[in-house]
Amino acid sequence: MNVIEDTLKELEATKNDFWNISKETGDFIEFLIKVSKAQNVLELGTSNGYSGLRIALALKETGGHLTTVEYWEKRRSVAVENFKKCGVDDIITAKLGSAQMVIEEELQNETFDFVFIDANKAGYIKFFHAVHPLLKKGGIIVADDVLSHCEQVKPFVDEITNRDDYSAQILNLPDGVLIARKNF
Ligand SMILES: C[S@@+](CC[C@H](N)C(=O)[O-])C[C@H]1O[C@@H](n2cnc3c(N)ncnc32)[C@H](O)[C@@H]1O
Repeated sequence: MNVIEDTLKELEATKNDFWNISKETGDFIEFLIKVSKAQNVLELGTSNGYSGLRIALALKETGGHLTTVEYWEKRRSVAVENFKKCGVDDIITAKLGSAQMVIEEELQNETFDFVFIDANKAGYIKFFHAVHPLLKKGGIIVADDVLSHCEQVKPFVDEITNRDDYSAQILNLPDGVLIARKNF
């Protein structure tokens, strides 16, 4: 076993303590980044870096970069350690702060082709409005927990599934995963 496999296994064993995505959702996100050849990925909600690691492993193949945002310093520090341990820290920028504020104050000159939303559930609608202008045409949004937290994420799900400029589907992965493509 190598250090990456060991670290992923360790993090999978403590997933409930750190609110990580399921292994299946990680598999799906890694696959999606590879097939879409995503280059510039934004993640909202880093936690201890499990999903960030899964994204970074795919980005190693596509040659891309991840920006991930977490407002809990202790969790961000654990994530940064995990990124270093697995040798992917060179392709990750781990920002500390509230997702909304970081997008509005630090990322306005960036564009993304893949956004993963996994921070506080009631905030999904405002995160969506904030990232929409930064998402390239053809870009993908993935959001976790849309079935497990359906009430909190309802404004987001209702809007993105009814907009002409997005095609969206909810997938029956653990907790419910929404995938959307920005068509124009
Ligand atoms: C569900 S966990 C993220 C899990 C992570 N994506 C993974 O699968 O490894 C949500 C994280 O988002 C952070 N968070 C919640 N609301 C946030 C916000 N508005 N801005 C930044 N981070 C936030 C929490 O502290 C928590 O660590």
